[in-house]
Amino acid sequence: METGASTVSGYEEKDEDLRPEDLSEMLGAGTREIHEKAENTQFVKDFLRGNICKELFKLGVVALYYTYTALEEEIERNKEHPNFAPLYFPAELHRHEALARDIEFFYGPEWKSQISYSEATKQYVERIHQVGQEDPVLLVAHAYTRYMGDLSGGQVLKKVAQRALKLPPTGEGLEFYHFEGIHSPKAFKQLYRSRMNELELDVETKKRLVAEAVKAFHLNIKVFEELDDIGKNIPREVSDAGMSHHGAMGGDINK
Ligand code: HEM
Repeated sequence: METGASTVSGYEEKDEDLRPEDLSEMLGAGTREIHEKAENTQFVKDFLRGNICKELFKLGVVALYYTYTALEEEIERNKEHPNFAPLYFPAELHRHEALARDIEFFYGPEWKSQISYSEATKQYVERIHQVGQEDPVLLVAHAYTRYMGDLSGGQVLKKVAQRALKLPPTGEGLEFYHFEGIHSPKAFKQLYRSRMNELELDVETKKRLVAEAVKAFHLNIKVFEELDDIGKNIPREVSDAGMSHHGAMGGDINK
């Protein structure tokens, strides 16, 4: 799914130059364990198997909509902050508008009056606003957790959802997964990592960023657990309507 390109806008990444104290390495190592936990939540496992009904998927899109609305609001607020400015890529990364279009596709033109915050989403959104307003250096951890994850798994998740929910092949309802401005996710992730590593941060701050990224994973897991609970209460006949009974993974989750 990704090409081997290693150059974005003339920037060349040299993997061999990475050091353990580089922020990208610290974040990768520091979130490895919690990443595994996130991958193994029931909701995520069901999703990967194509075991997801449309009603639940829609609630997941709503959670993402509120999360990215908050994240991108705080990113806009801090776009000139020296600890965030090098990571400001609105044209390439921002998902708010794509998610608004996805929600309109699922809920219709009156979507704004039809959606609301879930408890877990509210907690996640509150933390993002708190960080953006009180401790903006930590915003990098939230941007990393979402955007690097989306760039890693997007295409696989898009195919799973498309097949399980029988969504149109034109991509409506799944714009969230389509990064129009990014042709090579792999190259973009390398650029993003190198930008993170160029931030002037002392080791204490880097450690705080790793802790905040772990927290961001926990907040995501809470949302998954909540969705899983809601899914259990969706009547069988409703959930069956949008469910594929065939494994949708095809065995390839290699990002
Ligand atoms: C990276 C798999 C869920 C956040 C990756 C990579 C894989 C992967 C294979 C490595 C990509 C690479 O080396 O370039 C999965 C699978 C998931 C899942 C199978 C289950 C559906 C999540 C979730 C989050 C997340 C729920 C957070 C909300 C990340 C982040 C990275 C990443 C931040 C970048 C790690 C780094 O290079 O520092 N994921 N992931 N992932 N994923 Fe996931």
